[in-house]
Amino acid sequence: MISAVVLAAGEGKRMKSDKIKVVHKALGKELIQWVMAAAKGAGVQDICVVVGSKEEQVRQVLGEDVTYARQAEQKGTGHAVQMAEDFLKAHKGTVMLLCGDVPLVTAQSLQGLLEKHQTEGNACTVMTAIVENPKGYGRIARDAEGVFTEIVEHRDCTTEQLKIKECNAGMYCVETEELLEALHKLTCDNDQKEYYLTDITKLLRQAGKKVDTYVLEDAREMQGVNDRVQLAQVTEILRDRYVKKQMAEGVTFLKPDSCFVSPDAVIGQDTVIYPNCIIEGKTMIGKDCVIGPDCRFVDATIGNGTEIQKSVILESIIGNGVKIGPFAYIRPGNEIGDRVKIGDFVELKKAKIASGTKVPHLTYLGDATIGEDCNFACGVVTANYDGSNKFQTQIGDRCFVGCNVNLVAPVTVEDDAYIAAGSTITDTVPEKAMAIARARQVNKEGWVAVKGKYKRKK
Ligand code: UD1
Ligand code: CA
Repeated sequence: MISAVVLAAGEGKRMKSDKIKVVHKALGKELIQWVMAAAKGAGVQDICVVVGSKEEQVRQVLGEDVTYARQAEQKGTGHAVQMAEDFLKAHKGTVMLLCGDVPLVTAQSLQGLLEKHQTEGNACTVMTAIVENPKGYGRIARDAEGVFTEIVEHRDCTTEQLKIKECNAGMYCVETEELLEALHKLTCDNDQKEYYLTDITKLLRQAGKKVDTYVLEDAREMQGVNDRVQLAQVTEILRDRYVKKQMAEGVTFLKPDSCFVSPDAVIGQDTVIYPNCIIEGKTMIGKDCVIGPDCRFVDATIGNGTEIQKSVILESIIGNGVKIGPFAYIRPGNEIGDRVKIGDFVELKKAKIASGTKVPHLTYLGDATIGEDCNFACGVVTANYDGSNKFQTQIGDRCFVGCNVNLVAPVTVEDDAYIAAGSTITDTVPEKAMAIARARQVNKEGWVAVKGKYKRKK
């Protein structure tokens, strides 16, 4: 079995935040969740997370599926792994050591690291990368034959070693028994007076064990997050990665670099995405849709051949051949059938709207069930809330609801009914009836002559 220890005790002071670093989000997902997903994708089954002072923040994100170890005081990466001793003792075999603030590492790279580790039968395999500006990173030292010898931290490097461009990515595969032995031998005999995890490589080699490296193809995968600038940088790389993934699967983007697509989103072939779209969460979009410009979807399910422009859709299900927007606000809990039209300045909340119904403009429908092929004129409002409770509006099939109608819930409109413009409906409208509920018009003859003509105040 493959297990992992993820280091996440660092607070990340440079983030200037009440939140600890690893719970900050990149492309909608916490930094530590990216690492967890990569580890699981590489076949890791059991994970121990080493947390520091604000443990509850990590627990809130990861839940109780992982083991937690506590590092009360930060005395270095080696000390952090020592805190996971109980977990390591219970997990024989290979353990991956990872950092919670390195979100770009992919499952494939971790798999590559693991495969090399296991096929070579190493005690420890270090992930490395060739970095143009290696400042701050631990350097990979090799002997004359090019064989790995040790990792030297930047501040402990000689001037010659500072020129080395191969760096320690801070991710490792180690055999747990060898790791436990090496951890016991760690000292803090270095410039920072910390227990360096990197020293296990030297200790293992001294004990005659095999230690080797695995070089990352794309050095960007080892990019850590220490401040908001780096958070923006990794977000941009992830954004680009997941937009390109959609393009590889047959989705057109008119301006790819203006769009954000969640890693969990699924988009059908031949769908065209106009600029400035943010597609978040587990959103599913069908085939042949036209989306955008300026849309934001969160956990939305959208059918095939649907067109949506300049609209927000949250946690709702939208059918096939639907037209939405511009400027529709679809709040959580709606189910919209096929060929429905939701036009400009329409707000929906927990509305079920059956196929073929048109809600073209300036309308609010909340807590409502609406049948097929209805037509809503302009400005219809469900009065669904009395200040303390919400009530339902039921509308049958083929109804016509005129302009500026208020539907005071709870209220029912039966099939094929008509409602006259300006009506405030409080009682059931029976099947095939026409309801009109407004005061009659009164004309006062000669009124202007008595009161004087309307003049604009200066
Ligand atoms: C570490 C490596 C360095 C490597 C670099 C890659 C060591 C000694 N050095 O350096 O060779 O090039 O990563 O990014 O390991 N952490 C704890 N508890 C601690 C200290 C750290 O949990 O006491 C966690 C941090 O939150 C972070 C990770 O371990 O997630 C790495 O620590 P950091 O201080 O960033 O290591 P570097 O000095 O960058
Ligand atoms: Ca450090």
